[in-house]
Amino acid sequence: MTSGRSTEAPPPEFADAVAGAAPRLGAFGRCLHYFSTVGSTNDVAAELAAAGGAEGTVVFADAQTSGRGRRGRTWFSPTGAGLYVSTILAPARAGDAGRARMITTLAAGVAIVEGIAEATGLRADLKWPNDLFVARRKLAGVLAEGVGDAVVLGYGINVGPSAYPPELSARVTSLESELGRPVDRPRVFAETLAALAARYDDLLAGRFDVILDAWRARAPGCQGARVSWTTSAGARTGITAGIDDYGALLVRTEAQIERIVAGELLWL
Ligand code: BTN
Repeated sequence: MTSGRSTEAPPPEFADAVAGAAPRLGAFGRCLHYFSTVGSTNDVAAELAAAGGAEGTVVFADAQTSGRGRRGRTWFSPTGAGLYVSTILAPARAGDAGRARMITTLAAGVAIVEGIAEATGLRADLKWPNDLFVARRKLAGVLAEGVGDAVVLGYGINVGPSAYPPELSARVTSLESELGRPVDRPRVFAETLAALAARYDDLLAGRFDVILDAWRARAPGCQGARVSWTTSAGARTGITAGIDDYGALLVRTEAQIERIVAGELLWL
């Protein structure tokens, strides 16, 4: 029972996909909570984490009524048109807390790109820190939130075309729109979890450089792209110059190389 709601039995096609991938899911296949409709899977996972929920616990839903994105935005979460998933991670176990937290979110972006490619063949690009894009339209996003030492890592993937609000429709895309065919949603779910399990192993084993290199290889815009971002002093522009060993974005401005650790980047 979470927030007064009881976990439901997952739809059989999701249960089958998870069972088929079980040998590759590690901790991410052991404790699954499914809801046909929920406020936000991140909120449910945060409640579970605060109550001592196990690392690898997965919460997923067919629809969210209060899906949240980064920077206080709403994550449009209509029934059956996306994947809405949250997991409990314990990146503090990786040691080197200064690097682990940021690299956790980069690892999640890499894993979702990899899981989507494995399940569908579609190749998405990463935009710092962990947004997935195809031809500058947003396909998926990641929201990482701290709960004590744990991190609730939520991701949303647009699977099917949907009646997006007008302010979003020109800026988003979905797997099915890109591929021009139906997509096996349970398979995308299972493969993204399997990829997350593999990248989480890299993280816990301290293979940060492997994660950073994988991220760089999937983020063509992190080198040589003109971008803008906002600081407390106002909007800045510059040319991307890669990420450093901590996962911070480097941007060359007229005066210097700036190191960005938070905020939102716009492509110009
Ligand atoms: C973003 O790009 O702004 C991040 C979007 C994260 C959306 C997911 S959907 C599952 C989980 N539950 C939420 O409320 N948000 C995340």
